[in-house]
Amino acid sequence: MIGQRFAHMLIGHPYFEVVAYCASDRSEGKTMAQAWKLSDIELDDDLGSKVIQGTNANALKKHGVEVVFSGLPSDVAGPVEDELAELGMAVFSNAASHRMEPDTPILVPEVNAEHLASIEVQRKRRKNNGFIVTNANCSVTGLALGLKPLVDRFGFTEVDVATYQALSGAGYPGVPSLDILGNVHPFIKNEEEKMNAEGRKILGSWSGGRFVDSPVVIEASCARVSVRDGHLEAVFIRDRKMPEKEEIIKALTHFSAKPQKMKLPSAPDHPIIVRTESDRPQPILDANAGTPERARGMAVTIGRIRVGGGVLRMFLLSHNTIRGGAGGSVLNAELAYKEGII
Ligand SMILES: NC(=O)c1ccc[n+]([C@@H]2O[C@H](COP(=O)([O-])OP(=O)(O)OC[C@H]3O[C@@H](n4cnc5c(N)ncnc54)[C@H](OP(=O)(O)O)[C@@H]3O)[C@@H](O)[C@H]2O)c1
Repeated sequence: MIGQRFAHMLIGHPYFEVVAYCASDRSEGKTMAQAWKLSDIELDDDLGSKVIQGTNANALKKHGVEVVFSGLPSDVAGPVEDELAELGMAVFSNAASHRMEPDTPILVPEVNAEHLASIEVQRKRRKNNGFIVTNANCSVTGLALGLKPLVDRFGFTEVDVATYQALSGAGYPGVPSLDILGNVHPFIKNEEEKMNAEGRKILGSWSGGRFVDSPVVIEASCARVSVRDGHLEAVFIRDRKMPEKEEIIKALTHFSAKPQKMKLPSAPDHPIIVRTESDRPQPILDANAGTPERARGMAVTIGRIRVGGGVLRMFLLSHNTIRGGAGGSVLNAELAYKEGII
């Protein structure tokens, strides 16, 4: 799911030229057309004819590969990504394996671009130029982005969230059909713990050569629903000094950060879109929000904002395999490239 989004997002990319598409030995020798599963993307002949290789760090190094976009499962990614970084490559990973390391950022460029400074420490540890940058669990990225202007402006620290997560978040083939068709599955292993731990790291700071967690606490209840793409989240924020709804909407709609100022190719013009209709956001209508075309699926949509009794309630939606996955990694690499780190 993530690898194919990468392949699509990197077509004609202004900074990066793709030299190899890799997967497991099971896929070696297949064309991209034979492996393709993304129903919303029409595969062009050029990409469709590319032949998939196994994942071999030494072979990639010999090819002259400088940057690796990884959508490896977490149980595989740990040693493979380390090997790639040890060979001097810049690795942009979607896997959980390295996220909580003390010199490895979970980067969301609109939220914590300054966390890239940790790469210098990581490079010292690895004793070469290679490094790993991770992006967050797909349920966390959109939430962190939506919380950023609110936490900065109003100092909120108490966040409860209930998620309605899409099937593509479980990879391919994902959840067995009989478990999910006409059903809601109220458990996603380790997801609730990750939302809090990763959210606090992302919203925290890089200070004195280490990550300092944000005081924000995220209490999550996660469910898998029968939706193809797009994680919807019901967010509840408690604060005794709750601002007016208009101030909240203003903070969200005016939010803009470094990727927008730097005009990074995959940065959405408006990272947070506020919908005022009574029935939005919806995965089927809003998951692909974001302009320009290269930033399709990179904006977070927030709606149904309600304030009362010291509670802010809202729905938040983000595309799990684009903003919460491959697109997030591509944006991370664009930032690293423009900052001169790669
Ligand atoms: N899906 C999301 O929304 C999402 C969002 C954020 C982060 N993530 C994370 O991103 C990673 C990928 O998720 P996904 O949803 O794309 O999973 P997926 O659809 O199951 O894809 C996994 C990919 O890894 C390859 N692979 C498996 N074992 C391998 C091995 N030993 N060596 C080399 N390649 C191997 C598979 O190759 P074959 O095709 O040959 O089997 C496949 O291409 C996971 O760590 C996941 O937690 C996913």
